[in-house]
Amino acid sequence: MSTITLLLAFSVLTCAVHGTYYYDSSFAANVLTAVQLALTNIAQPTEDPVQLFQLFESGKYNENNAALVAKTMDILKTIYTDSELNNIVYNETLYAIFQSRGVCVVKNLNCTGQATSVYRTLDGSCNNLNHPEWGMAFRSQRRLLNPAYDDGVSSPRVHSAIGTGTLPNPRTISNVMHSNKGISTPLDQKISLHVFQWGQFLDHDIISTPVSTGVNGDALSCCETNPANVNTDKCAPIYVPNSDGFFADGTCMNVPRSAPALDGNCNTPTGPRQQVNKITSYIDGSNVYGSSAAELIKLRNPNSTEYMAVTNGNNLPPNNDNSACTLTVQGESCSNAGDSRVNVVPSLGSYHTLFVQEHNRIVNLLKGLGWTDPEELFQEARKINIAQIQHITYNEFLSWLLTRTVLQQNNLIITGSRTTFFTGYDPTINTDIANDFGIAYRIGHTWIPAQMKLHTDFPETSDINDPDVKNIEDTYHNPHMLYMRGRTGSNRLVKWLTEGRCPRTDRLLEDGARNKLFLKNGVSFDLAALNINRGREHGIPPYWKYRTELCGETLADPSSWSSMTLHDNITIALLKSVYQSPMDIDLWTGALTESISTAVIGPTLTCIFLAQFRALRNGDRYWFERPEPEGFSLAKLTAIKQTSLAAVLCANVYDASFVISQSAFIPGDVRNVLLPCSQIPKLDLSAWSRFGKRNLNTGKDEFENKLVHLLLEILKEKESGDVKK
Ligand code: HEM
Repeated sequence: MSTITLLLAFSVLTCAVHGTYYYDSSFAANVLTAVQLALTNIAQPTEDPVQLFQLFESGKYNENNAALVAKTMDILKTIYTDSELNNIVYNETLYAIFQSRGVCVVKNLNCTGQATSVYRTLDGSCNNLNHPEWGMAFRSQRRLLNPAYDDGVSSPRVHSAIGTGTLPNPRTISNVMHSNKGISTPLDQKISLHVFQWGQFLDHDIISTPVSTGVNGDALSCCETNPANVNTDKCAPIYVPNSDGFFADGTCMNVPRSAPALDGNCNTPTGPRQQVNKITSYIDGSNVYGSSAAELIKLRNPNSTEYMAVTNGNNLPPNNDNSACTLTVQGESCSNAGDSRVNVVPSLGSYHTLFVQEHNRIVNLLKGLGWTDPEELFQEARKINIAQIQHITYNEFLSWLLTRTVLQQNNLIITGSRTTFFTGYDPTINTDIANDFGIAYRIGHTWIPAQMKLHTDFPETSDINDPDVKNIEDTYHNPHMLYMRGRTGSNRLVKWLTEGRCPRTDRLLEDGARNKLFLKNGVSFDLAALNINRGREHGIPPYWKYRTELCGETLADPSSWSSMTLHDNITIALLKSVYQSPMDIDLWTGALTESISTAVIGPTLTCIFLAQFRALRNGDRYWFERPEPEGFSLAKLTAIKQTSLAAVLCANVYDASFVISQSAFIPGDVRNVLLPCSQIPKLDLSAWSRFGKRNLNTGKDEFENKLVHLLLEILKEKESGDVKK
């Protein structure tokens, strides 16, 4: 191939892509061949797409962005099949690099086969057959209300609704509205810490918003000495006002803006800036299994692929690259999971372990029931695990958060023993996560406890040099607690979540989250200020708009403080002391501080949550209450509806004699009486039994297989707690 032909080939490629790379078969074969030939001279194919991309960027090959992406993709094409490639390009770092150069990669969706598939895809694609992209990873977030950017397009909301004034600094609002003034926030004696942990675990199943990065995917430094020099397209730093009381004068919190989304056709939108959700929106255990096939490969046990990978017996999550967290003790490892935030706090890591343990337990049960094919075993266990996560979310967590009455009124209740199929699937519902929901649901930050603790059995005593209780700021991004007490920390943290009480759902955040978030080398963040700041840079309209435009309230005069009918007088006085107008109040602060009389949360949060959780059920073709092929038979559905978080805990971390509330979220409630684990209704998989059916390979009745039958008996005994330790 001559140099001229090569140059020609590159220019064809470059012209063809215009900053957008579609990796379908539309590329002319001769162009591909030319590129590949050229590349064999410069690099051996590597399996790491990020490395590959960086190799091209080393300086020698000075093509424009689109050509670089094209070359990377072509090399990858020589290594991976089209469907594997689908997942690889959605590698977060690679995506960030592409994004930062204004180059977008479009998935070539083909739903053939998925219409009849029993199992959902990993990236959420083809769930909706008319709109295969709805709810999938790396989609633009949708909005419940139109955005309210300062310039109508992209700049964060900074101006007050009245006059020429500006909105209060997010840190100032945090100090006035969300400080616990150094006194630990009161605990809600009626709920366990599972509310906190489930809340975050669920968040990490449905939304993850990537932030802008530098050109090579590296973190940005957003704090300029002169604020006027801040790159406002990529950065939204928080300059802490002087005399803060905690942060030193001149402190600036380094906050990159969320990465802008490109539109569905991969173009920079002409309209307002939108944000990305890099995980699937569906409640589909993506935090356990990942949001792409490429992620899942790293999470499955490579030797027995029906199982998820675990370490230390069944007690720790799989290891990750050690740059994913901060390690302080040699021999410990960062954790890996379906969601990259697994290392944020150790109790979250322990929940990830719990649902990996549950997957592996289900695999063992299915094996005892005659399931043999590793892929089928894996997929069925995944389907059952996801069904349990959906069931626990609606039947327990939302039943508490929104109340059963509200769920009933809104037709969102999971019917109990009177098991029938859910018939409300509606393919016209877009399940993409709502940007506004992503801000409002941060209400869970009020549940963050001041400390993390390992459960100890009497008469164990704590190690004075390495105590079982640690301040939360000492546990961020550090999995050490999982490794403590002979690497039994994961189960002990889960047990502590059952014993501990959750901080009240109020406006106050613990200092460990509000002053010392991610404390490292003396630098820390304020989570309340981040939430407010994030809402503004996402163009989230002010609180009052949600009351009127989304939730249908009529306010005679939204600019009058007398319109604040959902807040108590003390809160209104505090709001008045910081905001110029009620029309300025940020969504997160305004909604979180609504008065709570009988309900846990106020009407505006209820209305936002209902909108999102209705979509996540009604728009999910694989919702667990639907009939086969996407859902289950009635017998199987009945079995799933028996389960609970308590059942999952009893099956994986507790002995049969441990006494637990029927709802692990609500300890000791009259409706949720305490029972020993042996009496907690458990996941009964007998409806999955393949015994009695003809084995198509041998033609024999499988029940004749005495050995397997014996195994089943042993497993049943183990399940009932007789053999269980
Ligand atoms: C120790 C526990 C937690 C920590 C350290 C934590 C920390 C964070 C941080 C740093 C962010 C991003 C802030 C920003 O820059 O905008 C965030 C976002 C978020 N958090 Fe939390 N959080 C915790 C628990 C929770 C809980 C319990 C919930 C809900 C019940 C929750 C819901 C959310 C949501 C919905 C987002 C937005 C996610 C996204 O768009 O990517 N978090 N959290």
